[in-house]
Amino acid sequence: MRPRRSALRSTLSTRDGKSRYVRWLFSAIADRYDLITVVLSYGQDRRWKKRLVDRADLAAGSRVLDAAAGTGDIAFECARRGARVVGLDITRRMVELARQKSPTDASGPRFLVGDMMAMPFRDASFDVVTTGYGLRNVPEIAVAVRELARVLRPGGQLLSLDFDKPRNRVLRVIYFSYLTLVGSLLGLVMHRDPDTYRYIPESLRNYPGAEGVARLMRDQGFAEARFEPVLGGLMAVHVARR
Ligand SMILES: C[S@@+](CC[C@H](N)C(=O)[O-])C[C@H]1O[C@@H](n2cnc3c(N)ncnc32)[C@H](O)[C@@H]1O
Repeated sequence: MRPRRSALRSTLSTRDGKSRYVRWLFSAIADRYDLITVVLSYGQDRRWKKRLVDRADLAAGSRVLDAAAGTGDIAFECARRGARVVGLDITRRMVELARQKSPTDASGPRFLVGDMMAMPFRDASFDVVTTGYGLRNVPEIAVAVRELARVLRPGGQLLSLDFDKPRNRVLRVIYFSYLTLVGSLLGLVMHRDPDTYRYIPESLRNYPGAEGVARLMRDQGFAEARFEPVLGGLMAVHVARR
């Protein structure tokens, strides 16, 4: 259930609170998610996702997991390049929407409902794991990164696309205010609720940022972990090797 506006920050500060809120939020917005993504990114999101997939060592038949797959953009892009793809998401409605887009033959991704912090896959099941805006949304990033490492084969790749936040304090305040304003307007127009997309800046407050995520990946056993700034450093693509 959606918490009152004043409670959002404290809700997101606990593991259970964030978990419940994220489940509620993505179920509520799933049917408009594709449109919202285009609007919020000024049409750039597809390009960023292609950039992530370009960085993946994909060959025909590569086993790919797209974690927090949403409606499946990254999963479909990997499948188009010949990979065998599983998309996993905790929100049932997102999985239903992704399945509706899937081709009926065996070339398309398979979509499953599941939690990327405790996945139903054996160790070393995948050559490549991708996640788009996934790590910022889990209650414990370190647990998710460890789980993503577990299902990757040694030498396999983890790729992640997500927001970053400016290191400069003044720029950060401006950026968060901008996201809050745009998010509130969009929430009002799309859901008659200005709070819906205030979640993005709020989720960034406790997010360790691109450098912190790279460090976390190394701490969780990735031999290499680097990131490329996207959109002047407001977003980042991480590439890590197990
Ligand atoms: C912002 S959407 C991103 C969807 C898609 N990857 C994309 O880039 O368009 C975040 C997704 O993470 C999913 N999610 C949140 N927590 C999750 C978890 N613990 N395990 C799996 N999926 C999760 C949500 O259901 C939602 O679909």
